Amino acid sequence: MRKRAILITGASGEVGHALIRRLAEDGNNVLLTLDLHELPADLARLTTHVVGNLLDTHLLTRLVSEYEIDVIFHLAALLSTRSEITPEMAHEVNVEGTLGLLKLAAEQSQWRNQSIQFMFPSSIAVYGMPDRESKQLFARVREFEWNQPRTMYGCNKLYCEMLGCYYSRHYRQLAAQQPVTIDFRCVRFPGLLSAFTLPSGGTSDYGPEMIHAAARGEAYACFVREEARIPFMAMPDAVAALLDLARAPREKLTRQVYNVGAFSLSAAQIRDRVMAVFPDAAIRFVPDLKREAIVDSWPADIDDSAARMDWGWSPQYDVNRAFDEYLFPNVRQRYVQPA
Ligand code: SER
Repeated sequence: MRKRAILITGASGEVGHALIRRLAEDGNNVLLTLDLHELPADLARLTTHVVGNLLDTHLLTRLVSEYEIDVIFHLAALLSTRSEITPEMAHEVNVEGTLGLLKLAAEQSQWRNQSIQFMFPSSIAVYGMPDRESKQLFARVREFEWNQPRTMYGCNKLYCEMLGCYYSRHYRQLAAQQPVTIDFRCVRFPGLLSAFTLPSGGTSDYGPEMIHAAARGEAYACFVREEARIPFMAMPDAVAALLDLARAPREKLTRQVYNVGAFSLSAAQIRDRVMAVFPDAAIRFVPDLKREAIVDSWPADIDDSAARMDWGWSPQYDVNRAFDEYLFPNVRQRYVQPA
């Protein structure tokens, strides 16, 4: 008999860390995690962790021969800045990795005559505002607006959203009897702010980097100008969004891809909050015009009313709670020097 499990790819990334901890709180969940990297020891205790490559089809086949996977959280991806440095590799990991996993999930659903749930985090990077004026004018974008990404990562995410919808609705559509296939659900995340981990290779990274650098007592040069604005969300809400959408009754869902929002901040507003708590923080603005242009192409805020209406999305952390109750106390604690 195969063991039933929840599979998390990209488990050693930021969302992976928080999701493992949260899922492990329910002792009934059996977790199977995959990543190129090892997990820290405290997380590794909570899961069966496999160090391996998502693109290794033999490895994936071995995993499904040993485990009956009910839900997949497919988190593995190269983020936006890194993807611009190695675009073809980003395509390979972000698109081909997703395609292989979708196919495997579809085949397993068919084999078991039961839908495997496929949870996919997408991003505000799927949007592409053509210029700063449009960004100001169309401040809160809906899911179907401005889908003209300017990064490889954004293109990859947008296409994978479409692939997910295809595999869940039209896969093998010409077969005499269309097989049972996957239950694909997706949230588009804003920039994420975690108190316990730092992102690597993203373009919204200036937000968390500014906060963590101040707590470490290090100077920080922010790579976008003060006015640059995008939506952000505290990590516990990001995990809650994935889990709430996974739990939502299917008949309530009017779409498969949902914006989820919490608050929108300019870089200067993040700086001001940081300075209020770490008055000695040395924060300068030294824009990297290329990375800043990517941030400028992302919307200032997103309209998440579909998620609110269909499955009751409501962030627990507004901007004050996110900074004052979650980020600041925890980052301060994280970098305390032992006496
Ligand atoms: N945080 C991501 C990045 O910066 C965007 O979703 O690449």
